[in-house]
Amino acid sequence: MRYLFGPGPSNVPPRILAAGSKPIIGHMHPEMYEIMNDIKRGIQYAFQTENNMTIAMSGSGHAAMECAVFNTVEPGESVLVAINGIWGERVAEIAERMGANVHRMVKTPGGYFTNNEITQAIEKHKPVLFFLTHGESSAGLCHPIDGIGDICRKHNCLFLVDTVASLGAAPIFMDKQNIDILYTGSQKALNAPPGTAPISFNDRACHKMFNRKTKPVSYLFDMTHLSNYWGCDGQPARIYHHTGPVSGFFGLREGLAILVEKGLEESWKKHKEVASYLYRGLEDLGLKLFVPERDLRLPSVTTIAIPNGYDWRELLMYIMKHHQMEMTGGLGPSIGKVMRIGLMGYNCEKTNADMALHALADALKNCKKSKA
Ligand SMILES: Cc1ncc(COP(=O)(O)O)c(C=O)c1O
Repeated sequence: MRYLFGPGPSNVPPRILAAGSKPIIGHMHPEMYEIMNDIKRGIQYAFQTENNMTIAMSGSGHAAMECAVFNTVEPGESVLVAINGIWGERVAEIAERMGANVHRMVKTPGGYFTNNEITQAIEKHKPVLFFLTHGESSAGLCHPIDGIGDICRKHNCLFLVDTVASLGAAPIFMDKQNIDILYTGSQKALNAPPGTAPISFNDRACHKMFNRKTKPVSYLFDMTHLSNYWGCDGQPARIYHHTGPVSGFFGLREGLAILVEKGLEESWKKHKEVASYLYRGLEDLGLKLFVPERDLRLPSVTTIAIPNGYDWRELLMYIMKHHQMEMTGGLGPSIGKVMRIGLMGYNCEKTNADMALHALADALKNCKKSKA
């Protein structure tokens, strides 16, 4: 048993573990299709969308990232990527690998982009797709979304948003905010095991991806096939494409059911309350939060500036060894800048914040200051 208080995966509650341990059925049995329909409805609720083209990828968050880019972009087309941590870097690389003409807008981790800056970059590069991370888990920043969908629409560009680390923890409204493609992961606030990734496309995105001149580079992630597998293409029969992760889908369905029962508003409120409680405790320990603007902090993953004079690896190793607790360092451009505490979904409780604070206090007391 480990306390998974890093940026994911988070601990899986017994109810989801039990769902995942049910006997396997065939991935194309009628009962499985009912389960997939439940998942689709659960994702529609979690994303606040009525999009018909709503499915779960057989794969982790990266599968959804690749699916979004591979299907909506053709080689040579212009793509604009906002980078303020690792996830924009990843999407830029994915788009480059499939032959897109990639333009990067870059801020240091913890930075964010104004709508003005985004408008200017879109006018300059005329992209078919603009990517933004809602919950930048490597920096602990929750990016404002309002108005960006309208800017993209005005410039005939699709708006792609990553909510892997923020879904269920911070408000997002796919339809109201004019987001064309939205995806998330199973293993953060949804508390299901890693390995499935919800994704949804609106009509604008469908129009672009189903009127291509070239086939997407990936067969596994081709939405023509996946939309049939998920019963979204209006065809009477589903044809074999790949074998979906049956147990993973059982777990994802349960995670979504828990979120539906709890309610999104309640879940957002809880994450905010527990995060505020954690901020106070961290400040009481003399630690500094990495993102200074409180309203821009990601409620699910809190980033702490590395305390002066400490080796962050030593602190994290101490916490794992003596408290069986995972916290992590930075990722990509935030390595060496932050330590991260994630309290998501089932883990999002003040008692867990207390445990994390206690473990940190113990580590700060017992790990020698190794730098001046
Ligand atoms: C914001 C964000 N996007 C994408 C990913 C990638 O997801 P996965 O590791 O499930 O492929 C992560 C994982 O931590 C993430 O936090």
